[in-house]
Amino acid sequence: MAPVRTTGAIVASTAAISISMAIFSYFLFFKKTNSTLHCNKKKKPRNGVVDAIGNTPLIRINSLSEATGCEILGKCEFLNPGGSVKDRVALKVIQEALESGELSPGGVVTEGSAGSTAISLATVAPAFGCKCHVVIPDDAAIEKSQILEALGATVERVRPVSITHRDHYVNIAKRRALEANELAAKDKKVSQVDGKDRDQMDGCVPDPEKENPGFLSHYNGGFFADQFENLANFRAHYEGTGPEIWEQTDGNVDAFVAAAGTGGTVAGVSTFLQEKSPKIKCFLIDPPGSGLFNKVTRGVMYTKEEAEGRRLKNPFDTITEGIGINRLTKNFMMAKLDGAFQGTDKEAVEMSRFLLKNDGLFLGSSSAMNCVGAVQVAKALGPGHTIVTILCDNGMRHLSKFYDPKYLAQYGLTPTATGLEFMSIK
Ligand SMILES: Cc1ncc(COP(=O)(O)O)c(C=O)c1O
Repeated sequence: MAPVRTTGAIVASTAAISISMAIFSYFLFFKKTNSTLHCNKKKKPRNGVVDAIGNTPLIRINSLSEATGCEILGKCEFLNPGGSVKDRVALKVIQEALESGELSPGGVVTEGSAGSTAISLATVAPAFGCKCHVVIPDDAAIEKSQILEALGATVERVRPVSITHRDHYVNIAKRRALEANELAAKDKKVSQVDGKDRDQMDGCVPDPEKENPGFLSHYNGGFFADQFENLANFRAHYEGTGPEIWEQTDGNVDAFVAAAGTGGTVAGVSTFLQEKSPKIKCFLIDPPGSGLFNKVTRGVMYTKEEAEGRRLKNPFDTITEGIGINRLTKNFMMAKLDGAFQGTDKEAVEMSRFLLKNDGLFLGSSSAMNCVGAVQVAKALGPGHTIVTILCDNGMRHLSKFYDPKYLAQYGLTPTATGLEFMSIK
């Protein structure tokens, strides 16, 4: 009997193994087919540079997640073709302006920008047959204007003055668009004189190029992108960044935090997420010298002057770039915020080096400040929460300031931390 039992056992176990293998192969086949299909879908070529904007990865920042007991996730906006979150804004601004007819192919898009938006406009404009003219404060990192010129944009570096001054870089950019429009209109009028073509006028008509020497006469009109007040900025994040975060987390997100420059990112994302679930908490992280923290927490900017935008944000208040402001923009006013935190330059510098060492993340100053914000939110909410922030651009654009040891030493900002002690985490 014993041999029969053994044979029976062998037959039974052989059958069991065969069935398990069949089931395993079945699942393996279908899983493989599915993942191949998924991969193929992902690998489908995107339609030009414009189609490569957005749909950026959301990554777990391992070091910060482990240190806080929260899931801290960063949206890798530095992977956009123009290298920053501002690609989304540039694309939306140009698309809407072309649709409304305010911008024509061959026209010039002008902007007053400390860098990233300008780089994005210069990247996106040629895809629509347009050009880009940028007015930039001369305290912005030099590599930003070098990149702009290399991209084919024209650049004016100007002295930083208050926004109420006619020569604030944003106001100059606005004027340049008007000038380009006037020149284009004049040009059109001239070519229509007596129904004759301008080429046939034999030099008897005024030449706008001689009257207005300079590059502006070469364009088919101008359009001021106006990233601070143009709500296309808000819509870029409300329709793009926000929905992507929602999908990438399967709706499992407890909080969002970001710093504000124009306010477009924090406004668009917070409005979208809170519409999806009012339980999601949205926060601002504000750098030194900015009045927004007070606005969010106390309802007023620091002083009446700041509220009215008369006080210049002192360039030495913070070494971070693109974030912090002392006036309320239309974009920021759309934000749905539950609170605000403040971060210091020292924390941002230390955070950037910590992430470089521990995660291989080489981030710009605003991204580092956003991560400071994410840790502050994690500490406030406690372990077990999922917190999303924005990794706006990478460190390459910040070599001459944020990543320059001499520059940092000058402001007493030389990084010294070995861990996260600068965030009071052991
Ligand atoms: C590098 C960088 N990060 C962050 C921001 C802030 O984003 P937002 O303007 O959407 O508030 C800016 C704005 O110019 C920026 O240039």
